[in-house]
Amino acid sequence: ALLSSRYRETKEEKSEQELWEESQTQKAAGRKKKPKKDENEKEYDLVFDDQIDFVMQETTKGYDKRGKGKLSPEIGKELAVVKKEQEALVLTEHEKILEGRRKLPVFPYREEFLAAVKDQQILVLVGETGSGKTTQIPQYLHEIGYSELGKIGCTQPRRVAAMSVAARVAQEMDVRLGHEVGYSIRFENCTSKSTLIQYMTDGMLLREILTEPDLASYSCMVIDEAHERTLHSDILFGLVKDIVRFRKDLKLIISSATMDAEKFSKYFDDASIFMIPGRMFPVDIFYTKSPEADYVDAAVVTCLQIHVSQPLNGDILVFLTGQEEIETASEILTQRTRNLGSRIKELMICPVYANLPSEQQAKIFEKTPKGARKVVLATNIAETSLTINGICYVIDTGFNKQKSFNAKTGMESLVVTPVSQAAANQRAGRAGRTQPGKCFRLFTAWSFQHELEPNTIPEILRTNLGNVVLMLKSLGINDLLHFDFMDRPPADALIRALEQLYALGALNDHGELTKLGRRMAEFPLEPMLSKAVIVSEKYECVSEVLSTVSMLSLGASVFYRPKDKAIHADTARLNFARGGGGDHISLLRCYSEWAATDYNNGWCIENFVQVKSIRRARDIREQLEGLCERVEIDHKVSKPDDLDAILKAITAGFFYNVARLGRTGDYRTVKQHKTVFIHPSSVLAKEEQPPPWLLYFELAFTTKEFMRQVAPIKPEWLVEIAPHYYQQSDVEDSNTKKMPKMRKNRR
Ligand code: CDP
Ligand code: MG
Repeated sequence: ALLSSRYRETKEEKSEQELWEESQTQKAAGRKKKPKKDENEKEYDLVFDDQIDFVMQETTKGYDKRGKGKLSPEIGKELAVVKKEQEALVLTEHEKILEGRRKLPVFPYREEFLAAVKDQQILVLVGETGSGKTTQIPQYLHEIGYSELGKIGCTQPRRVAAMSVAARVAQEMDVRLGHEVGYSIRFENCTSKSTLIQYMTDGMLLREILTEPDLASYSCMVIDEAHERTLHSDILFGLVKDIVRFRKDLKLIISSATMDAEKFSKYFDDASIFMIPGRMFPVDIFYTKSPEADYVDAAVVTCLQIHVSQPLNGDILVFLTGQEEIETASEILTQRTRNLGSRIKELMICPVYANLPSEQQAKIFEKTPKGARKVVLATNIAETSLTINGICYVIDTGFNKQKSFNAKTGMESLVVTPVSQAAANQRAGRAGRTQPGKCFRLFTAWSFQHELEPNTIPEILRTNLGNVVLMLKSLGINDLLHFDFMDRPPADALIRALEQLYALGALNDHGELTKLGRRMAEFPLEPMLSKAVIVSEKYECVSEVLSTVSMLSLGASVFYRPKDKAIHADTARLNFARGGGGDHISLLRCYSEWAATDYNNGWCIENFVQVKSIRRARDIREQLEGLCERVEIDHKVSKPDDLDAILKAITAGFFYNVARLGRTGDYRTVKQHKTVFIHPSSVLAKEEQPPPWLLYFELAFTTKEFMRQVAPIKPEWLVEIAPHYYQQSDVEDSNTKKMPKMRKNRR
């Protein structure tokens, strides 16, 4: 069958309880009722010619483990007041928010939770996504007075989550964001002296520990979304575990969605687990009958399929892997709904991804207008970090983008990877939060069972540890092999990182931090980028390198390429490449030209540059200027016309990432002889005479191993800049090229 229409007609005003009971009775009746063909479904056949066949495989068990909980007299009183007002008047906006707070699953457990915190130093907090962990727990701690002893911190793996959650909590507390409630993320600090509750990315907390090793300004620290096991949170675990030993007054809460609670408890010396009982409605799981070749397209088709065949009161959440894909899907969806015109109901398309500007984030939380349906196109940020109300259909492509690191070759790349079974189940769960839902998996049931890993592998086991090692070293942790990792990274990955830092000059022969390394650690950048910044002083082009590095740090393309104006956009982009220097120098020209117009928006539009992205580059640049001052580098030093100097400074950071053009017309990395290609988005992609030597910013594996952001370099620079790493023979033009060797013995 196409979409099964077992989904019952639900009036918009039905309460959660009613829906829940309905779903239970339905289950008890053994689903005897034969599905009636939906009127909409017939219409569907008229509207589209392509469709995807799904088979329903199973229904997840819903559960209701809520308890009554105890209410303290005060809260009881508060509630009574609200009730009275409710009777007398319509609630104001803010009162409605307070009402909402009391309805969250965590609320009945407020007292019990606070008693447990009082009793114990470390707690592992577990609760379904959406139960109120992130927004409520810090407020509870504040309300009971912990904020008088010190700030209440709460870490998030993602910038977007940190910002949106802080905004939400500020709203709930009726204070201005950045005052009592604030957030700090890389390159953006929105806190003040009066901040009591501070949300931050886990990476920011690591940086704070550099300057405040005992976290003295905090009374409580919540390490949130611990189950995500990001690189930074894994390191935080080791650090805070140590800190709580000598800061007996610091309360530590490790908060996680349902997975892995035991493991956290065990790691933190058998800390108690506090469960927030939750409720989950059953979710029907559908799989495709056969594998889908193009999952973006399949997601769009499924989305429309749901839209026309299912009742309107349920929004759709689609999991894709990244910004580009989300933008593509959004374009196709817009186009197709436009073509269908009034034959279908309105579809409100909301993208969400890490670099989404904050103004646009608010849109995803807006209530869907009557007569329309919301489609949220998200990365796995919506898996657990963000809860969007009203979702009851999930479309899961089954992929996400993961950093993958090959310790043997030392190569790191971003790879589109199948998610784990645990992650897929978590995604499906998003559909059953407020009513019974449906999850459409764009892969087969066989693939789920046989091809997906049971659990996601922690990032620390698949990443380049350069930054981490640098950070731990500057925290004075020298013996990395004995650091208390929750999951120890493989020894060869650690050794690789040490080698890389040694090659960059950040560590000496004894593996100790050098003066250069200490300066590098000041920058919240990958070691290769911070090295380039520091070396730019020597080449007298600090200003240019700062602009380039800021543009590179955006993590997404600064150029805008609408499908209908692709040619114009490409011409505009290639204009920046005139005069040579590849992508790095193009980015620099782009930034400098914009700066010369006094940061004019019109200029951006004319040149197909994304205003928001380039503004962010400007913010990043300003922060880096400040950090330069800290390490006594004059950021105004400038040599705008000396491309060689600029590229040499960058080479000083990136001599690891060099590829050479072979006789067959392919590039091979100089170190591992791996075949790599120039990414199609590069200004050098269509060059008739590709440069013989290239430096690349990063590798991304999609259909092949692509080099992203490339610049032409001269081989003799390598010997000049990294003599310990390249010898003359490595860069000479001969067929019998040897692997470059390190001259010194490696430790
Ligand atoms: O952390 P956890 O997943 O347990 O829940 P939460 O993030 O604290 O979310 C609790 C409630 O706040 C959910 O119903 C969210 O939809 C809502 N929320 C919101 O409306 N706006 C935000 N920016 C964040 C949360
Ligand atoms: Mg949360």
